[in-house]
Amino acid sequence: MTNTKYDSVSLMKVSDFIGLLYGDSGARDWSEMRRFANLTALRNHPDHGYFVSNFWRGPLLYSLVRKLHPKIIVELGTGRGYGAVAMAAAVRDEAYEAQIHTIDLTPETSEFEWIYADENGIETSRSTSLCSFWGKELPAELTNRISFHCADTATVHSILEQESLEADLVFIDGDHSYFGVALDFYSSHSRSAEGAVFVFDDYSDRSGYGVKRLIDGQLSDLYEIQPLDMESDSAYDVEMDHRMAVVNPRGHSVDVSFPKPGSLRFAMLDLRRNIRSILVNIVRRVRS
Ligand SMILES: C[S@@+](CC[C@H](N)C(=O)[O-])C[C@H]1O[C@@H](n2cnc3c(N)ncnc32)[C@H](O)[C@@H]1O
Repeated sequence: MTNTKYDSVSLMKVSDFIGLLYGDSGARDWSEMRRFANLTALRNHPDHGYFVSNFWRGPLLYSLVRKLHPKIIVELGTGRGYGAVAMAAAVRDEAYEAQIHTIDLTPETSEFEWIYADENGIETSRSTSLCSFWGKELPAELTNRISFHCADTATVHSILEQESLEADLVFIDGDHSYFGVALDFYSSHSRSAEGAVFVFDDYSDRSGYGVKRLIDGQLSDLYEIQPLDMESDSAYDVEMDHRMAVVNPRGHSVDVSFPKPGSLRFAMLDLRRNIRSILVNIVRRVRS
């Protein structure tokens, strides 16, 4: 192994990191988070059956929000809402004022087949939309705290600029290709507050994923990085899929600059992301 930053220096189990945040190693009750995960993060694998995909991102995001009290929270890539709901629960439990903005290309009224486990733990699916499912299945005291934006995550700077906001905590979980994740980071960083913390999903070696390349290549010399290994109950494929990384976990003020939205470098990355996406789609069609 050549990458010591990743493999030996500071890789930590997510529950140990959560213990550090709380300053103890006590067991915690994650039953509410399990309910949310069953509703918003269940998947079905042809060989392995139903599983919750990366359960531990919920407890991680919940604990970060409880301990850091970020006022402006931004999630890039809403999916079905597990991350956003976990963070909203932390804001509720700390009883403080915060805005949670979550962004996805899929409109909130678009219907798709939603897999979930009901209150009896029975796995099922139905055709529904984010708006409709949240309204029926998730507590309004949580969903009311979340603002959904239908947009390309690489334009988050414009959304924040329009509302004169700067992000304190950013969860980056949209397009995992190198160009996609770099654009998402540069875009959100350009509208981030001093000491902002960035959480990345999928800090892994999976083919086509660029989170690790961005963090190891561009961020690890500038920021403190905390790579996190998920617990073994995270998903059937935990070893391969589900490492995460917290960039600037202690919220230090770091004086750095990256390609700005509107710059030639940013535009070139966007172009390369779009070309890559076209090529990936062509390859998929040829193979199917
Ligand atoms: C892994 S899911 C997000 C899961 C969610 N963060 C959670 O914790 O449950 C990734 C989401 O990113 C969205 N996405 C991918 N690329 C995007 C882009 N360029 N702009 C906006 N959304 C994007 C996809 O539509 C998908 O819903």
